Amino acid sequence: MLQGLIAERRAADSPGDDFIGVLLEAQDGDDRLNDWEVLGIVAAMLAAGSDTASDMHPSLIYALLDNPDQYEKLKQDPSLVDNAIVEALRYEAFGKTGLHRYALEDVEFEGITVKRGEQIIIAGQAAGLDPTQWDNPQEFDITRDLNGNIVFGTGAHVCAGLFLAKSQAKLMLLEFMKRFPNATLQEMPTRDPDHYNARHVTKLLVKTNI
Ligand code: HEM
Repeated sequence: MLQGLIAERRAADSPGDDFIGVLLEAQDGDDRLNDWEVLGIVAAMLAAGSDTASDMHPSLIYALLDNPDQYEKLKQDPSLVDNAIVEALRYEAFGKTGLHRYALEDVEFEGITVKRGEQIIIAGQAAGLDPTQWDNPQEFDITRDLNGNIVFGTGAHVCAGLFLAKSQAKLMLLEFMKRFPNATLQEMPTRDPDHYNARHVTKLLVKTNI
């Protein structure tokens, strides 16, 4: 489908002003993206952005309702919402299950040699619960100083959708608080520990108490 769409856009007078159009027009000197590169970027966006962006919502609601004092604090001061979102994702160990990296040279780490060209898979979510980095990492605190978190990755490959994901989360939480200020958990959530992409909640029952 995407190959057809890319061919259609290339043949048109203008490639359009959406994401695909911008990629087709992107230029660095004489260098432009070929069809496979455009396809790769669009596919990465779809794959990276679909499950994560929907899966985060139950994790955010659960973290807040399981910590009613923090839910109350957020209701009292909604300006804490941005911090509360990242804190909930940290606390919930939410995020990509397995970040892949290849060693550019032989690297010695904690007694293990990773040889040049070898692949390693990093459990990035564990970083948010590392007791050497965070005070009481198992505690959910929406006022926590989250400097140095890698919930959305870091460096050259930092999440391309982080502003979108955070905006969606913010809209959802502010609306949820407005509509269901007295919400409580009905039961603990069930999860799919084998999910390929994110820490996935399969069922979350909430009492709205309205
Ligand atoms: C709560 C939601 C999300 C979380 C926790 C999350 C987390 C991450 C993390 C940790 C990385 C770094 C991967 C690495 O270092 O290899 C990443 C990369 C990426 N994310 Fe997200 N993401 C989320 C939502 C989204 C959304 C909504 C989109 C797109 C609309 C998106 C698109 C991408 C893309 C394209 C990359 C790859 C960037 C690159 O390699 O240059 N993500 N994300």
